[in-house]
Amino acid sequence: MNEREHRLVIAIDGPSGAGKSTLAARLAKRLSYVQIDTGAMYRAVAFLMHSACVDPDDTIAVERFCEVVDVRLEDANGVQRVVANGQDVTSQIRTPEMSLLTSRVSALKPVREAMMRAQRAMGSAGGVVLEGRDIGTVVFPDADLKFFLSASLEERGRRRYAELIGKGEQVSLEETIAAVALRDEQDSKRDLAPLRQADDAIAIDSSGMCIEDVLEKMEGYIRQKRQDRKNRMKVILAKRAGFCFGVKRATQMAFEAAVMDKKTYTLGPIIHSPQVVNKLEEMGVRVIKDLETMESGTIIIRSHGVASEEITEAMEKNLEIIDATCPFVKKAQEHVKSLSEAGYGVVVVGDADHPEVQGIVSYGGDKVDVVGSGDEVKKLPKMNKIGIVAQTTQSFENLKNVVSECLLRGGEIRVFNTICDATAVRQEEAKELACQVDCMLVVGGYNSANTRRLSEVCAELQTRTHHIETAAEIDPVWFDGVERVGVTAGASTPKCIIDEVVSRIEEINKSH
Ligand code: F3S
Repeated sequence: MNEREHRLVIAIDGPSGAGKSTLAARLAKRLSYVQIDTGAMYRAVAFLMHSACVDPDDTIAVERFCEVVDVRLEDANGVQRVVANGQDVTSQIRTPEMSLLTSRVSALKPVREAMMRAQRAMGSAGGVVLEGRDIGTVVFPDADLKFFLSASLEERGRRRYAELIGKGEQVSLEETIAAVALRDEQDSKRDLAPLRQADDAIAIDSSGMCIEDVLEKMEGYIRQKRQDRKNRMKVILAKRAGFCFGVKRATQMAFEAAVMDKKTYTLGPIIHSPQVVNKLEEMGVRVIKDLETMESGTIIIRSHGVASEEITEAMEKNLEIIDATCPFVKKAQEHVKSLSEAGYGVVVVGDADHPEVQGIVSYGGDKVDVVGSGDEVKKLPKMNKIGIVAQTTQSFENLKNVVSECLLRGGEIRVFNTICDATAVRQEEAKELACQVDCMLVVGGYNSANTRRLSEVCAELQTRTHHIETAAEIDPVWFDGVERVGVTAGASTPKCIIDEVVSRIEEINKSH
């Protein structure tokens, strides 16, 4: 199950000389977070390009280089090391030559994109502080906290002047202020990654403030954010929510057929998801109840399968058949056929009204009985040879009961366990989840038996269970006083609908 991670991603942007790197380092240390030193990463790329003789003006060579470049920040006994293509380059990247090359290299689009991917990967689990010009706007637009740090031009000029003088450089204060002003202009006008304050960034003007004061101010916002997070619901999504193997396969086959320019139909809904059926309908794939009026075109057989007579009819009419019957259902059909041909009286354990069972039964001619439970076996006539097959969604317990009863009635028994565990696994996971949360949402078609069953098993353990088809049905009132909400979905629920549900909960979460 996926639980939201609560360590924060903190983005610090701002003009040069605002104190971003010092603050990012101090903040990361205080929070025991990782400071992703983006500047060091670009320096590492510059170093590697230099070592590999990659000319920054050779676009193709740069792109090739960026496909394989690997820059990481690793912790070695509390000290951050910069590792580039497996080599520790921490000390080699801080030379004046590398500084010059870095400013060229960091302006290259493939380099920025490669480093952005690496930075996002490093920050994906949270617990990171990053600083730069476009962290909150481009690299981490969804950062938990964004600061835009600035200070007056004079103040930043003075800070830079003190730094340069400290390094023994001969510069005047006026020149330094002019250089900072020029850098501001270049940074805000550059095509790639211009300096811009994110709309949701917290602006801090550090003019006249010492580092400690700024840090304290930032920590105040961080405490508040953490408190807000604590007060917010956790959303836990069941690992196996949504499409099972058979439904995924059938849906793919139907969408592939939909893009072919042919008259295409499905015999009954392809899966029990009105949204998928509607989408296919929009693409020209219509649902028909039977083949009576169909004289030509393509017919798609749904994942639950159809009766053997319908396949025969389609073949006689020379229709093109796309058989999307789930291979597990197909297996059950084949067992019924071979058992009845071998002279067994066939017992199918399942729901006689379910289309899958009706399809399976059709493969056994008149030698098939359907039973819903062990008790119903008592009504069957005496048989010498009994072959037993189960509807794929039956419980193992029920199959076992039927087998026990059959043992009392027939001489020879053959049992094929045709149960597919996709449903059982979803139900077990849903039960476990329902016990851990204060509210459960079960997503899927109202016509989907497995979603309804999923909802029932959850409702037995969690009274605040809601079966919904789409995110639009969610009522924010359901979450009053809820700390943890679980989400699961039936085997015929598309991922996009599950994602919309999770996003809607997050939206409500934020507005609470
Ligand atoms: Fe097939 Fe099992 Fe799904 S039988 S359709 S994989 S629930």
